[in-house]
Amino acid sequence: MEKNAAQVPESKQDIPLLTPYKMGIFQLSHRVVLAPLTRQRSYGNVPQPHAILYYSQRTTKGGLLIAEATGVSDTAQGYPQTPGIWTKEQVEAWKPIVNAVHAKGGVFFCQIWHVGRVSNRDFQPNGQAPISCTDKPLTPQIRANGVDVAQFTPPRRLTTDEIPRIVNDFRLAARNAIEAGFDGVEIHGAHGYLIDQFMKDQINDRTDHYGGSLENRCRFAHEIVEAVVNEIGADRVGIRLSPFASYMESGDSNPSALGLYMAESLNKYGIAYCHMVEPRMKTVGEKVECPESLVPMRKAFKGTFMVAGGYDRGDGNKAVVEDRADLVAYGRLFLANPDLPRRFELDAPLNKYNRDTFYISDPVVGYSDYPFLETTA
Ligand SMILES: Cc1cc2nc3c(=O)[nH]c(=O)nc-3n(C[C@H](O)[C@H](O)[C@H](O)COP(=O)(O)O)c2cc1C
Repeated sequence: MEKNAAQVPESKQDIPLLTPYKMGIFQLSHRVVLAPLTRQRSYGNVPQPHAILYYSQRTTKGGLLIAEATGVSDTAQGYPQTPGIWTKEQVEAWKPIVNAVHAKGGVFFCQIWHVGRVSNRDFQPNGQAPISCTDKPLTPQIRANGVDVAQFTPPRRLTTDEIPRIVNDFRLAARNAIEAGFDGVEIHGAHGYLIDQFMKDQINDRTDHYGGSLENRCRFAHEIVEAVVNEIGADRVGIRLSPFASYMESGDSNPSALGLYMAESLNKYGIAYCHMVEPRMKTVGEKVECPESLVPMRKAFKGTFMVAGGYDRGDGNKAVVEDRADLVAYGRLFLANPDLPRRFELDAPLNKYNRDTFYISDPVVGYSDYPFLETTA
């Protein structure tokens, strides 16, 4: 009988996403990365024991995971029940979660975050105004659940001499992440949050040396990268950028120039990776095809280049084969499929994600109850 090629299972070597990759000091066994995913289940900004199961479910030996956005200070928060890493209690609470990922052989980076003006008085110490590069308010936005409207308090513009303190908060958060056992940190420079607020010319209206030219607008990001690199070593530092996204009114008049400038200028720090969100992700959750591409940035950046945004098995493999990326981060598919690399290996059907439970505070539902392949059949 003639052999039917379609029935011959592919070996891992034939699946580009499942080939090994050396990211600096980390030997990864495959290229399917868990994207940072806010889940709003960290009560009182403290990571909870239920995160042990959630993250360990998504761990593979030699796989890279990026933890959800984690606040660097008490002014960094803008959403309910998101974790932080500025107190001893938070650091201690992360430890068993990180240990569980390490016990299964995973490599775990913590995404460190400051929301800037995407906040309101209720999230701020003493009910103060959120901080930003600007005092321009953000218009109320529909929350990710599609129903509630988020209200934002007009931000207070940071003075020039306050900025080093915020840079220092990122440095301390990175130190704490290492203390908690994380292998490294991903600096959250995407999606309209504080660092992105400085970078984007539709938000940044400063007249000091943190505003105006591209170089000035990127200064804050560079200072944070440098401080974090000096604290924990370049091998343990990544950064996430979304030059093309306009989420939270964070548009830029020339996103290609911004992305390229950052990709080139980051080379001098020798960081572990640059993680860019695809231009097709104008918002955090919707894909809109567009002509722009990350290829110029991929070519400009000398280290590991990670992409994210609307990838499935097919186009993730294609991105690796065409050398458009070293690693591909998966958000919603990994959220709903704890065994995503295994499913990609077998080209198995995927669980569908349920948006309604992305951000609920339940410790199990929509969190650790997505079935594994073995139990789906
Ligand atoms: C529930 C949810 C939470 C998210 N939280 C974060 C976050 O904490 N940090 C971040 O940089 N991006 C966050 N994102 C964006 C994802 O990391 C990812 O870039 C996006 O979902 C697009 O990738 P995908 O098409 O693979 O889902 C979030 C997305 C979703 C759906």
